[in-house]
Amino acid sequence: MIFRRERLGLGPKETPAAATASGNLPRFAVDATDDIGDAAQGMHAQSPARARLALADALSASQPVTSRERLAGRADTLSSLIAAIEQQRAHVVLYGERGIGKTSLVHVFAETAREARYLVLYGSCGVEARFDDMFRTFASEIPLLYHAHISPTADEAEHDRSFADLLGSDPVDPRELADLFQKIVGTRVILVLDEYDRVADPAFRRDVAELIKNLSDRAARVQLVLTGVASNLDELIGFTPSIRRNIVGLPVGPMPEAELSEILARAEDATGLTFALDARQLIVKMSGGSPYLVRLLGNRAAARTLDDRRALVSTADVIAGTEAVLAEWNAGLPRRVQAQLARAEVRGAWPMLIAAARASGTPDGWFGLHDVSGEGEGGPDVALVRRTLDGFTGEIDLFDREEGLDGREPRYRFRTQGLAQLLGLSAALARAGR
Ligand SMILES: Nc1ncnc2c1ncn2[C@@H]1O[C@H](COP(=O)(O)OP(=O)(O)O)[C@@H](O)[C@H]1O
Ligand SMILES: [Mg+2]
Repeated sequence: MIFRRERLGLGPKETPAAATASGNLPRFAVDATDDIGDAAQGMHAQSPARARLALADALSASQPVTSRERLAGRADTLSSLIAAIEQQRAHVVLYGERGIGKTSLVHVFAETAREARYLVLYGSCGVEARFDDMFRTFASEIPLLYHAHISPTADEAEHDRSFADLLGSDPVDPRELADLFQKIVGTRVILVLDEYDRVADPAFRRDVAELIKNLSDRAARVQLVLTGVASNLDELIGFTPSIRRNIVGLPVGPMPEAELSEILARAEDATGLTFALDARQLIVKMSGGSPYLVRLLGNRAAARTLDDRRALVSTADVIAGTEAVLAEWNAGLPRRVQAQLARAEVRGAWPMLIAAARASGTPDGWFGLHDVSGEGEGGPDVALVRRTLDGFTGEIDLFDREEGLDGREPRYRFRTQGLAQLLGLSAALARAGR
């Protein structure tokens, strides 16, 4: 016998305390095979666990939207994206802040393009992304049956082969790749490079620019869609005049309030909960146009409502949920930074820090003194901004500072990731909450 109850003292002599302990061990709420979408209205009354799961599903802030039915708003951006691909036959760069919905948009775009028989291949770039690996993988997903020189009635063996089989063993070169892709017939291919801003290797970016140029020159049936955190096109692809006319840049901006509200309305349908009007408005206001924040704050507020076995999400739930988010973000900061944030001189400079947080929304996080002075109401004076930020680059090291060349202004960056976001949300709560 492998497991002897008597020996472990868990037999008939089991103590009540032990029974409770094991009885309380957590279990999954719902089987993996269940379709939670089926059970909607009023489910919180019968099954809080299910409502919780539906909530996690409807308002998850960590997953992009992947289907058309779940995307709120964004019709205009999607239609510009489709037009750029279909009518202009251009390559597209989607740029905007983190959490604004770029990945969701490209997923829904991919679904839409597949319906129109495009072959859409998706790749997410990492810091270590290499041109060779990435494009070899793409090529391996394009069946050789789309090659101009292979007959569609080719024998079985050809069915398993891909364009990657035609690449040599040397690192893939953009020109060679464009030559190969020029041979594609019978479909059009869209290659999505998500999170392009994360690529650290300048050679990767150079090769992608070279590939775009070569594909365009050859009128190949392959188009690239790049996405990244940036406030303008130059930040993401650099200023490369030779490819400029082949690229359409589409900004993904803050979502209008009505569309953000739609996200909460869908969550209501899925969970059976209702957001009180003022609670909904508070979430939308604090989110500043970010669907990520609407989901995160909506989720937290709704979870508190479920905890109390209520069905109406109130303003108090939203405030308490937001405070909990802030506390978590704060706990995620290094201890040293937490201690610094509690110091009187830092507290005293809070409005300036918040202005700096707003100014820091660039892809690499660097900003200048004027960016900060332009953020505050009535704008803090540049000299004061400089004194304050410089004061936080020494013993209190909230910022990195880089000297400007040729007598230009220095630039600054928050040292700790997540701090700018925390400052932004805490300011939004202070503004909107009371
Ligand atoms: N149009 C939308 N409708 C509903 N939720 C959205 C929408 N756009 C983004 N989201 C949600 O916001 C969060 C961030 O979106 P994501 O696409 O990952 O942004 P990005 O790629 O710009 O960082 C995700 O949880 C996603 O589900
Ligand atoms: Mg993304």
